[in-house]
Amino acid sequence: MHVLGINAYHADGSAVLLRDGELIVAVEEERFRRIKHWAGFPTEAIRKCLEIGGITGADIDHVAISRDPKANLLRKAAFAVRNRMHISNIVNRTRNLAKVHDVSAPLADALMIPSGSLPKVHFVEHHPSHLASAFFVSPFDDASICAIDGFGDYLSTSMAIGQRNKLDVLARVSYPHSLGVFYTAVTQFLGFPNYGDEFKVMGLAPYGSPDHVAELRKLLSLKQGGMFELNRPFFRHWDEGVDMEWDGGSPTMGRLYTRELEQLLGPPRAKDEPLTPYHENLARSLQAVYEEAAFHVLNGLWERTHNPRLCMAGGCAMNSVANGKIRINTPFTDVYVQPAASDNGTALGAAFYVWNQTLGKSRGFVMEHGYWGTEYPEADVTEIVAQRDDPQWTYSVSHHPDEEALCKATAQLIADGNVVGWYQGRMEWGARALGNRSILADARRGDMRDIINLKIKFREKFRPFAPSILESAMDDFFVGAAPDPFMQQVYPVRPEKRLILPAITHTDGSGRLQTVNARTNPRYHRLISEFAALTGVPVVLNTSFNENEPIVDTPEQALDCFLRTRMDAIVVNNTVIQRHPR
Ligand SMILES: [Fe+2]
Repeated sequence: MHVLGINAYHADGSAVLLRDGELIVAVEEERFRRIKHWAGFPTEAIRKCLEIGGITGADIDHVAISRDPKANLLRKAAFAVRNRMHISNIVNRTRNLAKVHDVSAPLADALMIPSGSLPKVHFVEHHPSHLASAFFVSPFDDASICAIDGFGDYLSTSMAIGQRNKLDVLARVSYPHSLGVFYTAVTQFLGFPNYGDEFKVMGLAPYGSPDHVAELRKLLSLKQGGMFELNRPFFRHWDEGVDMEWDGGSPTMGRLYTRELEQLLGPPRAKDEPLTPYHENLARSLQAVYEEAAFHVLNGLWERTHNPRLCMAGGCAMNSVANGKIRINTPFTDVYVQPAASDNGTALGAAFYVWNQTLGKSRGFVMEHGYWGTEYPEADVTEIVAQRDDPQWTYSVSHHPDEEALCKATAQLIADGNVVGWYQGRMEWGARALGNRSILADARRGDMRDIINLKIKFREKFRPFAPSILESAMDDFFVGAAPDPFMQQVYPVRPEKRLILPAITHTDGSGRLQTVNARTNPRYHRLISEFAALTGVPVVLNTSFNENEPIVDTPEQALDCFLRTRMDAIVVNNTVIQRHPR
């Protein structure tokens, strides 16, 4: 039986395919449309699911869409009346709602079948989709589950308990209160207006001191049982509504904060203004107040479940700094956050919700790795390089059919200070590159961050780069870390190791590590092992294979990125291509 899960008309459009309860494919639309966080109907992702799954649209038995516009209608209506919501706001919402209902035409088109022959379509509410994405693919038979985000289907936070193939929602926080909105509002205030910029503010925070915690605490009130409320005067979405665009490309969101916030914090930073210590301190304070609130929610969940295993999802579950502190600040002992914890993952959750919860099938799948995307094993880009006539550079090509030789040669390139594109196997699911579409470099070099920024990334200097480390060496280099193949938790680098790993140690001594083992990515494990044999350090710097664009999908895109940047070498499958000055 095939279940297709989709996230449509929301940011990070995506599709996943289950066959008899096993995940077969999980892909994000942005990788094919080449627009970050692409929002709309994920036609290309659905087609990739069919192609990789080796089936046609007629083979799909159930479609699960991670949104239910009918959900919480009573709450919405009551809120609109209570708050005398502006009529245009209501009309906009109604239009969006109609679009979500009318998926039969784009769905039939994507599946390439007549709309009269569509399989059964299930609308799974946004938050249960998040909860299902966290729990049903986790290694736990039973667990506490938490979803925290901006909003979806009128909710921003939900707490649940999962037991085998069922989850029960225990508590929820609905519009207008939202920790995601809290974080995004201050992110906008700090001059970062784009969808997903919260990640930059999290990277900026360690440069500052939490000097403005008292002011930012005024933005929200923590209530009993892990509940919370935003304080109305500081937020626009209550009274004025906020423009959001969830269709046809890049998601956008209007300004969330009011003049009252400016009175509290001073003038907001414009996008291109320099960052000052004040902004760093505000970012640090935002992260601190967010963590207080998130741990308050999680402790409220613990009070309800007393189950020490935690599965998390929602955009706020991408806050890897907070995630790394959960086991210190709550009674939870095990934490699972699958790599697409944002809205991309709701496609996964909706599909498993239908399989486990709706159809009552037992569980039999655990997501142990993130490699669920496209693959081009036979691709050879040598020809493209051979035809290249570049005034500045020449290129040398070597083929290594033997994996050991390939990994030895690549490890040597990294140890010699080269920035190396590493393109292998199936594309990653979720925002992080996990060693199949990665740019790798020597984590021991203090100048490597600047070199990568100069040659390829051109991104903000304050943003850290992350390490991939052999799982077996994790405790030698990090304090109190847990294995995490998805790079979702930040931990302190051991003080005595910080000087050894300057390129991946953030200014506060932390690192967002990916642990790598031989079972789930044997080739990447071998590469890092070869690097360790050469250098004594089982760690490489790992950043996503892209340049201000979604992570590359095809070998041709990877090569194009290599050629238009100043990357030193690229490894595509078994072929190593090096750049040399003429
Ligand atoms: Fe969400």
